[in-house]
Amino acid sequence: MTVDRVLDKVVGGAPARIEGRDKVTGAARYAYEYPVPNAVYVWPVQSTIVRGRVRSVDGAAALALPGVITVLDSGNVFRLRPAQDAELAVLQSADVAYRGQIVAAVVATTLECAREAASAVRVDYEEDEEYDVELDPGNPRILSPETVNAGFAGTVDRGDAESALASAPVRVDAVYTTPTEHASPIEPHATIAFWEGETLTLYNADQAPWKSATTIARLFGLPEGAVSVVADHIGGGFGSKAATRPPTVLAALAAYAVRRPVKVAMTRQQMFALVSYRTPTLQRVRLGAERDGRLTAVWHEALQQSSKLVEYTEQTVAASRVMYAAPSSHTAHRLLRLDVPTPSWMRAPGEAPGMFALESAMDELAYALGMDPVQLRIVNEPSADPESGLPFSSRNLIACLREGAARFGWAGRDPTPGVREKGDRLLGTGVASSTYPVFTMASTATAYAQPTGRFVIEIAAADIGTGARTALTQVAADELGVPMDLVTVKVGRSVFGPAPVAGGSMGTSSWSWAVSKACRALVKELDERSGVLPPEGLEVRADTTEDLAAAKRLSRHSFGAQFAEVSVNVDSGQVRVERLLGVFAAGRIVNARTARSQFLGGMTMGISMALHEALRMDPRFGDFVNHDLAGYHIAANADVRGIEAHWIDEQDDELNPVGVKGIGELGIVGTAAAIANAVFHATGFRQRDLPITLDRVRAAMRTG
Ligand code: MOS
Repeated sequence: MTVDRVLDKVVGGAPARIEGRDKVTGAARYAYEYPVPNAVYVWPVQSTIVRGRVRSVDGAAALALPGVITVLDSGNVFRLRPAQDAELAVLQSADVAYRGQIVAAVVATTLECAREAASAVRVDYEEDEEYDVELDPGNPRILSPETVNAGFAGTVDRGDAESALASAPVRVDAVYTTPTEHASPIEPHATIAFWEGETLTLYNADQAPWKSATTIARLFGLPEGAVSVVADHIGGGFGSKAATRPPTVLAALAAYAVRRPVKVAMTRQQMFALVSYRTPTLQRVRLGAERDGRLTAVWHEALQQSSKLVEYTEQTVAASRVMYAAPSSHTAHRLLRLDVPTPSWMRAPGEAPGMFALESAMDELAYALGMDPVQLRIVNEPSADPESGLPFSSRNLIACLREGAARFGWAGRDPTPGVREKGDRLLGTGVASSTYPVFTMASTATAYAQPTGRFVIEIAAADIGTGARTALTQVAADELGVPMDLVTVKVGRSVFGPAPVAGGSMGTSSWSWAVSKACRALVKELDERSGVLPPEGLEVRADTTEDLAAAKRLSRHSFGAQFAEVSVNVDSGQVRVERLLGVFAAGRIVNARTARSQFLGGMTMGISMALHEALRMDPRFGDFVNHDLAGYHIAANADVRGIEAHWIDEQDDELNPVGVKGIGELGIVGTAAAIANAVFHATGFRQRDLPITLDRVRAAMRTG
C-alpha cells in the first residue's frame, strides 16, 4: 500500500486527551487494577521508634491467623545489592533510620488478613534515646553541600555581595520559611509484582518506567531487561513517583519470597513516611539596590533537611542565580541531616520554595523604593544569564509581565497597603515572576509503519495525567504527515527502551525529540521507497543521545508572570484568592487544551502552597501528625475562584525539533509569592511564613 501525507499541522492545536474516554468510563487501568490471577497481599509493618535497631520480629501471632503466608523481616528476605538510594535497601538491615520505616511485612491471601496480621507482628526494638527530627538553624551539624539536586552548585559567589550590600542605598533583609509538604497524588502508590523465573514484572504507579526497571534490576543483581515496568496510566505523582520508592522494592521482595504475584497499595497514611516529601526551608534573602531600582546584590541562603540515609538537597536558591541582573550575588544551600524520612522531588523542587522567598523580597524592595513591582522586575532584566554569562536561548519575562499587567488590569494600582475595604474584607493585589529551567534528557523511541496503514510509536514515556500521550501523538502525526487518528502512541512501558522521567518538566522536550527523530527517519525510508510499504511494514528506532550532546551551550529557561487578587476577612483572617492570572513563555505550546490544564493545575498547587499545605512534625514522636487528607489540607474547588492561564507565542529554535520548553512545573513557581504579596497589599502585614493560615493573619493584624 502507499501512504498519503497531509499538510494540516496538529501541533499547536487543542485536541482532547486520547485516553479521556477510557479515564471517565473507568476503562483506563491503574497499577493496582490489573487482573493478576493467584495474587496475594502485602502489608508493611512500620517502625514505631525514631532511631535504633530491631532486636527481633515475632511473627508467631500473625502466622497463626488464617490466610497468612509469611512474615518478612530483615532476617529472611532476599539480599539486595547495595542501593545508590539507601531508602531502597528495604529490610536489608535491622537499623531503624526514622519512624515509619518498613521493619517487617506480612503476606496474606486477602488484604484484610494482611492488615490484621501486620498489627499482630511484635517488633522488639533497641531504641536510641537521642534523636534529632527538627530543622534547628542553631544545630552545629549543619553542612554546606558541594552540589545539590539536578547538579546545581551548592554555593555560588559572584563579585562581592557583602560590600555591595553594605554600600547599597536601599536594602531588604528578611527571613522566609516554607513548611514540609507532601505530593499527595490522588492515586496512592501501588505495585503488583510477579516473578517468572529470573524475570520480574511490575505494574507500578510510576513516573519513570524505564528508570525504575533498571533500578530494580540492579538491586536484584539482574541484567537490564530482566525487570519490566508497566505504567499505562498514572493518577498524578508530582515527584513522589519520579524515582523508585520503598513500597515498590517491598513488592518485588515479597513476590520473590512467596513465588506468587503480590499486590502492595499504600494507604494515604503510609504514604506520608514512605514515598518522600518536600523539605521544609528556612531562607534568608538580602537585596541591595540603587535608588532607581537596579539591584547591586542578590544574597540568598536556604537551610533544608534530609535524612540520615540520603543526602538530598533541593536546589532552592538556583532560580535566584538567573532571575535578575545584579553585579554581585551570593547564593548558598545549607543542609541538616535528621532522623526523618528522606525528602525528595516535589512540584518544582527548589524553584517553588526559593521563588516564594525571592519574589516576596522583590515586593518588599519595591515598597522600600516606592517603585511599582512590575517595573522593578523590568529594570532588572539581564541581557545574559547572570550566573554563567551565557546568552538565553529565549527569555520573555518582560513580555509576560506586560501582558499579564494588561490582562489583569494592573495599571493605575494604588500601592498603599491596607486601605481597600469591601464589607468585612480587605482587598489587595500582588505580582511575582515564575521561572523553570529547561531540562532535556536523551530518549529512545521506535516508529512503525504497519502494513494496515497505521503508525505505532513506542516510547517509555509516562502520562501522569498531563496529556503526554496526546502531545506525542500530535508530534508524530505532524512529522509523518498523517492525521492523528492513524497514529497510536504507546507509552508507560520500560520494554520500549531508555526514556527519561515524566518529571523536571522535561518529558515533552525529551520525548518529542526522540519521537520526531524516529518519525522523520521513517518518512525518509518511506520516501526512498516512494511511499510503498513492504508487506511486513517498516520499523525505525531513534536515540537522541548524540543530538543532545551536540546542542549549543546556552541558558535555557521558561518564564512567566503571575498576578493575584485576594480578599482577607478582617475578623477571621481568612484569605481568599479571588483572581489568579498567569502569563507564561515556554516555547511552543503543543496542545492548548492540555497545556492550559497543566498551567491551571500548577497555579492551583501554588494556591495550595500559599494557603493550605503544611505537614507538621511532632518532635516528641518524630512523626508527621496530620498524615491524611483531613489534616493535610490541599486546595479544593472552592479555593479556586477566578483563574486564568495565558501564554505568549515564543519561538525558540535552540531547544529541540518541536521547540518546547516544558510546562509541568512553571505554573506553581512564583504563585505563592504573588498571593503573599497581595495579602500584604490587602492588610499591610507581610506574611513570610507559609502557609498563610487564618491564625497567622489574625496574629499579624492583632499585634500590628
Ligand atoms: Mo517533578 S517534582 O520533577 O515530578
